[in-house]
Amino acid sequence: MTVYLVGAGPGDPGLLTRRAAELLAMADVVVVDRLVDRRILEEVPATALIIEAGKHGHDPSSSTTQEVINDLLVKHGLTAQIVVRLKGGDPFVLGRGGEEVQALAEAGIDVEVVPGVSSALAVPALAGVPVTHRGLSQAVTIVSGHNGVTGDVNWSSLAALGSTLVLLMAVAARGDIAAALIRGGLAPSTDVLAVEWGSTPSERRVTTSLSELGTIELVAPCVIVVGPVAGLGLSISNRPW
Ligand SMILES: C[S@@+](CC[C@H](N)C(=O)[O-])C[C@H]1O[C@@H](n2cnc3c(N)ncnc32)[C@H](O)[C@@H]1O
Repeated sequence: MTVYLVGAGPGDPGLLTRRAAELLAMADVVVVDRLVDRRILEEVPATALIIEAGKHGHDPSSSTTQEVINDLLVKHGLTAQIVVRLKGGDPFVLGRGGEEVQALAEAGIDVEVVPGVSSALAVPALAGVPVTHRGLSQAVTIVSGHNGVTGDVNWSSLAALGSTLVLLMAVAARGDIAAALIRGGLAPSTDVLAVEWGSTPSERRVTTSLSELGTIELVAPCVIVVGPVAGLGLSISNRPW
């Protein structure tokens, strides 16, 4: 019995790994996250059972809880041949993949992890923004904005680090987070890039500054890059999604 914890990448099916595509083509059951691009499910055989198990940021009423997802994985892991747990981006980057591995291990079910292309790095890259760049930033910090400034993230320390910050799940709290970073020492004029729905037909990019971040319109899912690299906007010619 093996459950395959597979990263689906940020959206574009071209960013799936070969191992992910191979497993999807053989799957009997696919337990899929809300943010996984629907084009990727075209890789799944018509006979497979597809179970939607999405979480909706701040809306518990339209979310499947982590406990229910874990139970689903254990239930199908004990009975089906090939169960793929398909998660957006990389399963181990702010995706609670580790908790799913623990639940499966407790039930005596083996897990194979197939890393995916994380939105945290790929979405900026596709907008011509390298998260590190000699002379601008030698480090990158990926951080969840889900709990805003009331959670356990020390935003002043992050401001002092001097690394590029990549914020996920930060749309709702973006104004508060920007203010906390400015209080922590980042210049209000610090460059910011926000990309909604990266690598999908709905992609939208906005460049702004830290002081303006709270005032611009943004919708989730969105990757927000804070730091001098965000202003680079290298000229690249990626194909449209
Ligand atoms: C629960 S986290 C999961 C991250 C995922 N494990 C990864 O590695 O990309 C979900 C957040 O990732 C970001 N995200 C995921 N896919 C995205 C996309 N295609 N475009 C922009 N942001 C995305 C958004 O910040 C979203 O709220």
